[in-house]
Amino acid sequence: MPDFVGAIDQGTTSTRFMIFDHDGAEVAKFQLEHQQILPRAGWVEHNPIEIWTRTAAVIQTTLQRSGLHDSDLAALGVTNQRETTVVWNPRTGRPYSNAIVWQDTRTDRIAAALDQDGRGQIIRDRTGLRPEAYFSGGKIQWILENVDGVRAAAERGEAIFGNTDTWTLWNLTGGVNGGVHVTDVTNAGRTMLMDLDTLDWDDELLSFFGIPRRMLPQIRPSAEPGAYGVTLRHGPLGGEVPITAILGDQQAATVGQVCFSPGEAKNTYGTGNFLLLNTGTDRVRSDSGLLTTVAYKFGDQPAVFALEGSIAVTGSAVQWLRDQLHIITSAAQSETLARQVPDNGGMYFVPAFSGLFAPYWRADARGAIVGLSRCNTDAHLARATLEAICYQSRDVVEAMQRDSGVILDVLKVDGGVTANNLCMQLQSDILGVPVSRPVVAETTALGAAYAAGLAVGFWRDVEELRTHWAEDRRWEPGWSGERREKGYAAWRKAVTKAFDWAEP
Ligand code: G3P
Repeated sequence: MPDFVGAIDQGTTSTRFMIFDHDGAEVAKFQLEHQQILPRAGWVEHNPIEIWTRTAAVIQTTLQRSGLHDSDLAALGVTNQRETTVVWNPRTGRPYSNAIVWQDTRTDRIAAALDQDGRGQIIRDRTGLRPEAYFSGGKIQWILENVDGVRAAAERGEAIFGNTDTWTLWNLTGGVNGGVHVTDVTNAGRTMLMDLDTLDWDDELLSFFGIPRRMLPQIRPSAEPGAYGVTLRHGPLGGEVPITAILGDQQAATVGQVCFSPGEAKNTYGTGNFLLLNTGTDRVRSDSGLLTTVAYKFGDQPAVFALEGSIAVTGSAVQWLRDQLHIITSAAQSETLARQVPDNGGMYFVPAFSGLFAPYWRADARGAIVGLSRCNTDAHLARATLEAICYQSRDVVEAMQRDSGVILDVLKVDGGVTANNLCMQLQSDILGVPVSRPVVAETTALGAAYAAGLAVGFWRDVEELRTHWAEDRRWEPGWSGERREKGYAAWRKAVTKAFDWAEP
């Protein structure tokens, strides 16, 4: 058996390829960003062709730099930004439009209409989700209704849908020459089209959005040998490597953080934040604004479920300071700037750029900065941005504790923003529990590699994976209880100022 496993992580802002060894240690990686296309307020698009060419480039560069080859890889896993919707022509390989990204709010009205006639409740009951612009169903409907010729093409089998896992897989396995059109349960479960009981597309749900079934990929488990084909010999890997796992990125991070037992949770700090709590084979329904979602399904073992708190804007708020306001030149500088002041100077920033997701689900919210006085500086804004990441996480932790009764004694974190030590200290201060970061912070790619390796026997079982997890750093709460509760009360008040602001 070869010595390594590879993973493609096709994320919201960048795509990376990583190679891991038998101990789960990182051996090589390379990543490239892609363009965020913002045609109007609330719209966010990606160019699928750019995503695929960047994916091919990161694979080739990683192999070249590491001196490794396709034959060194026992298996390949794919993980991806979820919900982002691509519709393409399988004969030409050309997408019919840009991908509509998960943060895009253009389908607000489609989502709101579902709650006016009982369809919303059916979606809640059957999919564990809520009727929201966030999920893929409305995005597919929008493309069918607004891009010329797509509906007729879909009826003829000449327009097929995929999230970026499926788009990547189809291209990796041959594209127009027989690319595999498959997804996994964790991605399919984010469309509002999959029934959590059957783990298959549901005709009644498809009818809510007017989506022809033949557009949709086949749904497979998250890890299974032979389920997703092999890479093309003349593709970017330069040889045939079995693709044996697909997982949405948040579910992959749950696997990478070895949260295999009910009650174990992780919080990933990327473009947005996503807190997932493993609930085992039980599907816990939320009364507090969380989602019920598939965490993973390995082969023919039963599916494992999670409660999820999804936050739309966290790391992307730091990017906004960099790219739109130009008050920093790198994400890392947000820490240096925020450290110039001892507190937020009374300023609270609610980055509701895509409305607010969990636990509020207010599509009508827009960003708000409140509590300003003349002494405030860009340093206070940087600090308020980091605090906003942490306060939003506290909102979902509280909701999760209400729904599940599980009281976190430590928060396991991962993702790019966890490199920001001040932010992690603030997270511990604001939550009042320790925060723990693992040695391998790239848990998303690691989780995809773990799932792919388990499928081919590269790793024996999940217990073996648990032995790889090691803590890199831990932050302990430093604020007094009084400061913590005062700050949180101010945050909750600030959130209400962001409501009801979307243009009618
Ligand atoms: O649901 C959206 C999520 O999968 C995006 O994750 O890490 O690309 O921000 P990320």
